[in-house]
Amino acid sequence: MNYKGIIFDLDGVICHTDKYHYQAWKKLADRLGIYFDETINNRLRGVSRMESLNIILERADKTYTEQEKEAFATEKNEVYKELLKQMTPEELSPEVKDTLEELRNRGILLSIGSSSKNAGFILNRLGLGDFFDAVSDGNNISHSKPDPEVFLKAAEFLKLPASECLVVEDAEAGLLAAKNGEMDSAAIGDAVKSDLPQYKLKTFSDLLNI
Ligand code: BG6
Ligand code: MG
Repeated sequence: MNYKGIIFDLDGVICHTDKYHYQAWKKLADRLGIYFDETINNRLRGVSRMESLNIILERADKTYTEQEKEAFATEKNEVYKELLKQMTPEELSPEVKDTLEELRNRGILLSIGSSSKNAGFILNRLGLGDFFDAVSDGNNISHSKPDPEVFLKAAEFLKLPASECLVVEDAEAGLLAAKNGEMDSAAIGDAVKSDLPQYKLKTFSDLLNI
């Protein structure tokens, strides 16, 4: 591994909170009578809560005021947070845990780079509250992926030049953010279909072979 730091997306990379995002958005979409499925859900990966809502509302047959949209985003987040409260450290797979520990043993600095404002809460639920050398998330950025801000901040928190960090992502928006920040990336999950990443991971532990 030629990288001194790795910046991990959280939802869909470290853990499967992406499925909780989907369930919470689906509940809202159903209530509003708006069609929503897993394919549309893939477009929500990596983008902010309000941008996610705007994507869902593309299929609405009426327009909503900013105030109504704020209320919908809050409604979704409340449902999402209830799902997160039920998470336990068992939701961190042994493979992810062992890989993170091995990377740390190799002296690589590890950061989170997530658009989520719930990242700290999720890390605590997983028992990773103190694990990462840095956490850059939705609370310290003004532009969501594909803007590179969240990753550039993570590199800054690690005190490393961005060029020495590898980004790990499950979202096209995240891979584009890495490219926009002139950083290399490794894709996992649905994102392996993209031609943006330098590496494609079949499984998380493939990181150890980079
Ligand atoms: C990203 C998810 O990690 O966080 C997106 O991939 C989500 O789907 C975004 O919209 C914001 O999350 P939150 O928890 O602040 O609503
Ligand atoms: Mg993700």
